Amino acid sequence: MQLIDTLEQGLRELDALGLRRRRRTIDTPCDAHMQVDGRETIGFASNDYLGLAAHPQLVAALADGAQRYGAGSGGSHLLGGHSRAHAQLEEDLAEFAGGFVDNARALYFSTGYMANLAVVTALAGRGTTLFCDALNHASLIDGARLSRADVQIYPHADMEALSAMLEASGPGPKAIVTDTVFSMDGDVAPLGRLVELAERHEAWLIVDDAHGFGVLGPQGRGAVAEAALRSPYLVMVGTLGKAAGVAGAFVVAHTTVIEWLVQRARPYIFTTASAPAVAHAVSASLRLIAGDEGDARRAHLHRLIKRTRAMLKETCWLPVDSQTAVQPLVVGANDATLALQAALERDGLWVPAIRPPTVPEGTSRLRISLSAAHSQADLDRLGAALQRASAEVQEGAR
Ligand SMILES: Cc1ncc(COP(=O)(O)O)c(C=O)c1O
Repeated sequence: MQLIDTLEQGLRELDALGLRRRRRTIDTPCDAHMQVDGRETIGFASNDYLGLAAHPQLVAALADGAQRYGAGSGGSHLLGGHSRAHAQLEEDLAEFAGGFVDNARALYFSTGYMANLAVVTALAGRGTTLFCDALNHASLIDGARLSRADVQIYPHADMEALSAMLEASGPGPKAIVTDTVFSMDGDVAPLGRLVELAERHEAWLIVDDAHGFGVLGPQGRGAVAEAALRSPYLVMVGTLGKAAGVAGAFVVAHTTVIEWLVQRARPYIFTTASAPAVAHAVSASLRLIAGDEGDARRAHLHRLIKRTRAMLKETCWLPVDSQTAVQPLVVGANDATLALQAALERDGLWVPAIRPPTVPEGTSRLRISLSAAHSQADLDRLGAALQRASAEVQEGAR
């Protein structure tokens, strides 16, 4: 079969380049300590930043939601699948995350990938100039491609370059699109400058707070709240399968923007609504995030972040200057990064290697993802293993 042979050849090429991905199977709930492929492991791979994914209150809320609303939604939001649980969650989200705009409203999506496709394609189309940060998440890149807008990519977080590109662009509609916390680097976009530029040039500013929501800002309201920004040009996407510990995503913006998405965003309209029980559990998660327990978890996470930054400086690799729960360690070559991942795995630690195309060529890295579920002892284990591996590399180089 020639078609199969072609794919097999492609897979062999991925192997040769050190780019083949392998899935691990987890037998236990997402937590700091898990059983992965049958082995006891400390995980630094999840985005469960507050350690809520296995929280008993969320497990109970999911079960309660299933009792009340059943297992499935039965339809798309516009055709019979929009339940009271979805409606309530949207009210909760608008209130919690919508402080940056008057008349805020929220729209709940099954995934962040869909939310990003939806918002970019609904607000930018043929004739729009779309300005995208070079390190944006794949879902924003795919949304930009799908939109058929004129896409212009500005160098990562470079506001001088973006300003010059906006000045040089014509009078037509414009939108700027960026991650808030960059998913593979952990740094935070210059949101204040971005709002200034958006307002000056009458451009939408679409921000994807997947890695900030729940972690940053007062009560975990996100990166926009942390920067204390307000603007009717801002459209915020947040995801609910990371710090919120459940699943799904949302867009918060001025009510007219949301109504436009309901009418026009194809990834919202043409898909079955997620199970209402999931939305019910997310509402419970918002209460945890906003309350004292959320504050305590964020405080613990920030102590872990500080400690990790100090720890990574002691290795022979290059830490990225990140103040968030995403702590990358750039190794460079794919094979060296995979070797480091394997060495840590032998020590019972799971820290995923991230390779192109997820990150630029030559910047393969370990992505250490911290969670409030980790203890100081877990970090000590990671620190000791990294020290050992670093010493071995330096020994080998002599
Ligand atoms: C920055 C960013 N945006 C969007 C997504 C997609 O969100 P979801 O996993 O809910 O589809 C992710 C990761 O999954 C992400 O890292």
